[in-house]
Amino acid sequence: MARHITFGVILTGTGGPGEHNRWLDPEIPGDASVDIDWYTEQAQLAEQAALDLVFIVDSQFITPDSPPHYLNRLEPLTLLSALAARTERIGLVGTATTSYNSPYNLARRFASLDLISRGRAGWNVVTSGDAGTAGNYSRDEHYDYATRYGRAAEHITVSRALWDSYEDDAFPRDRESGVFLDPTKLHRTEHRGEHFSIDGPLNIERSPQGHPVIFQAGDSTEGRDLGAQHADGIFTHASSIPANKAFADDIKSRAAAFGRNPEHVLILPGAKIIVGDTDEQARQIELDQHRLSNTFDQALGELGRPFGWHDFRAYDLDAPFPVEVLVHAERSFKTQATQIVEHARSAGLTLRQVVEQRSAPHPSPFVGSAETVADTLEEWFRAGAADGFNVYVSTPAQFRRFIDEVLPILRERGLARSAYEGRTLREHLGLPKPVNRHTAARAAAAAAESLDPADAAASAPAGPTAALDPAEAATPASSVAQFVDA
Ligand SMILES: Cc1cc2nc3c(=O)[nH]c(=O)nc-3n(C[C@H](O)[C@H](O)[C@H](O)COP(=O)(O)O)c2cc1C
Repeated sequence: MARHITFGVILTGTGGPGEHNRWLDPEIPGDASVDIDWYTEQAQLAEQAALDLVFIVDSQFITPDSPPHYLNRLEPLTLLSALAARTERIGLVGTATTSYNSPYNLARRFASLDLISRGRAGWNVVTSGDAGTAGNYSRDEHYDYATRYGRAAEHITVSRALWDSYEDDAFPRDRESGVFLDPTKLHRTEHRGEHFSIDGPLNIERSPQGHPVIFQAGDSTEGRDLGAQHADGIFTHASSIPANKAFADDIKSRAAAFGRNPEHVLILPGAKIIVGDTDEQARQIELDQHRLSNTFDQALGELGRPFGWHDFRAYDLDAPFPVEVLVHAERSFKTQATQIVEHARSAGLTLRQVVEQRSAPHPSPFVGSAETVADTLEEWFRAGAADGFNVYVSTPAQFRRFIDEVLPILRERGLARSAYEGRTLREHLGLPKPVNRHTAARAAAAAAESLDPADAAASAPAGPTAALDPAEAATPASSVAQFVDA
């Protein structure tokens, strides 16, 4: 298990939520979100610093009130395929929704990315918080939460089965004997589930990581259970050490309850890192950057997003916050919308006050001199509030300061790597490669038949796959049955 701090980097070019005017910064090209050279530059910088991964967020419904990056950006898997060709070691993680993709298509694309990148692919599984996405995929209405998360769990389950279609050694490619494929190592999927029906097999060999790394980012009870049961890493927001520690403990105890090793679920809050010569100067830079956040009107427009892009401009700004709007969040970002409404109700806020509070400066915990930032990151890590961080690149200059000034301190303390030790994203993260279920079933059958325990041990899968946590290596018989009958 990697015991240094995991670091990802979030690339949101011209500005994500709450950053409508980030693109005005002269350091950010106006077309950063659609320019492959800009992404490449940041990814190569991250790779030179031996960071673990780059993360590409995504959604598929916009309005004129969407932030600049969302209005005009590259599709994640296409982008990551290009980055795969221009980088060598850094992990490549992209968001893809289980609500508007079919498992065969997505499993194939992530397996392809894993092969193209030689084992660096990661999938951030989301269910689409933007209810309007339905209208772009031939549906009148977005799925309700139970269906969204039911589809997500089944989607991951069947994707894992598809990724096991071929055993690792299914292709002898032996010119002398003329044997290209060993057909006994190719397996149909035969999945008949509540949401998907898939015969399989997948038409691509098992990729270097076996299964690309799975991330998850939902915060509702359903989202937490999905992550705890199926994900290798959880993306979340950073608020405070006690709050994030409680979140991490909750996810890890849910993972243990699902029979998993909690150390194999990494908690990665997003971190806005700002480095100055002194703590005071860094706070000043943070305040200066805040000027590039949202104007009141932009914040009023963006407040609609968790509520299915409900139009708040139609309301009296000085009347009590219209709590009845929560109904519009039912199939959107319900968890976030509920928090907004409950806060407004309990504090007796008007709509104007809610918008003002949301667009006021919110000091990040990770702002200060390089020493202060390193201390804070270490404190969060040692307290168990985070296994690592997803660093928001506010400006390339700030990203460079993090790399040049903060990372060396962490390296000195043994908390950050100076060079990659492994080749795959799983290796960077200290996660085992899943054993192919059919290979495992063959080994188990051989072991059961063998009277000599030494023979049984010899027939077990060898190499790094053997390191898989037994709790996570679903017993072959039950896992096959699960995928046939689910
Ligand atoms: C840190 C973080 C990152 C997220 N990234 C995305 C994303 O890239 N695309 C997306 O559609 N949703 C994203 N989400 C939203 C969630 O996947 C989920 O749809 C949303 O939070 C609503 O579900 P919930 O009520 O379970 O949280 C993100 C959420 C968090 C907390």
